[in-house]
Amino acid sequence: MRSALFRTLGKGLGLCAEASSTRAMQQSVPALTAAMSSTASDSEPSKAARYAAALGGVIAGIFGASCVATASEAGDGLHAPHYHWSFDGVLDSYDHGAIRRGHKVYQQVCAACHSMQYLHWRQLVGVCYTEEEAKALAAETEVEDGPNDEGEMYSRPGRLFDAFPSPYMNEQHARFANGGAYPPDLSLISGGRHDGPNYIFSLLTGYRDPPAGISLREGLYYNPYFPGGAIAMPKMLVDGGVEYEDGTPSSASQQAKDVVTFLAWSSYPYQDEMRVMGIKACLMISLLIGFAAYSKRLRWAPIKSQRIVMDVVN
Ligand code: HEC
Repeated sequence: MRSALFRTLGKGLGLCAEASSTRAMQQSVPALTAAMSSTASDSEPSKAARYAAALGGVIAGIFGASCVATASEAGDGLHAPHYHWSFDGVLDSYDHGAIRRGHKVYQQVCAACHSMQYLHWRQLVGVCYTEEEAKALAAETEVEDGPNDEGEMYSRPGRLFDAFPSPYMNEQHARFANGGAYPPDLSLISGGRHDGPNYIFSLLTGYRDPPAGISLREGLYYNPYFPGGAIAMPKMLVDGGVEYEDGTPSSASQQAKDVVTFLAWSSYPYQDEMRVMGIKACLMISLLIGFAAYSKRLRWAPIKSQRIVMDVVN
């Protein structure tokens, strides 16, 4: 019976165009039943059965295509909307107040789980802290150094040239502490994810209850922006969770905006300088083009204004 059904389907698919006629649709339901109940030893399947199979093929195709689309949306996560960041345009620079607040959010919230091993305290000087402030922040951390004269490793307070401390000893330790999931290093995350700033902002503020019918295993949280929809990071930002020293109201979305600005800066710390350099280069080049055009006309003037006359003498 199975092979007969496949044969019917195969033949029926060739008749897609005909199958869309209303007559075939009217016949489809009883005809499909007929096709299902036919046996391998049956002779040629009836015309109605072929129509029905064709229709089935078309419907299955449409459903299949829509399933593929849904699957890829769940697989890639919901597309993040576009937000207007202070550093979006070519002539824009980072909002350094936001970098400072963002560092505070990172330090008070994210640093418990995420390292930023490529960032050094000295890089914050002149960006969001004075040298004294950065030194004081570094000194609050403990760094293992050594060996000393006796060959022993020892701990000392952090200095400006040290990297940010990591909350874990290694990846296994990180996974063990997070139920098997690995909280990635955040130093380059904004550049490393597609549409980084918008994605991270949406991720941090996009937690919600799972839709009806979806149950997540313990330790996973529903977040439609995360590929797959189930993330091992709990919702971390809550209104008033961080106290800002500049008096900015610390709503969850404000914290997300600030920490994203900080992460964007840490991915491209030299962006401001490069933009200034780019503007200078463009100005310089346009000036040089002006000079070049003028000097070309000047040098060619005697040649272009000459007239060569040849007299032919017999
Ligand atoms: C309780 C620990 C914890 C804290 C605190 C935490 N995270 Fe996470 N984070 C995780 C874990 C675990 C993952 C890995 C999730 C996964 O793979 O399912 C993760 C993943 C991420 C990702 C990567 C998502 C991706 O696309 O792979 C980003 C970005 C992120 N966290 C940002 C932050 C920021 C910003 C903060 C601070 C506001 C923060 N996290 C605080 C545990 C934490």
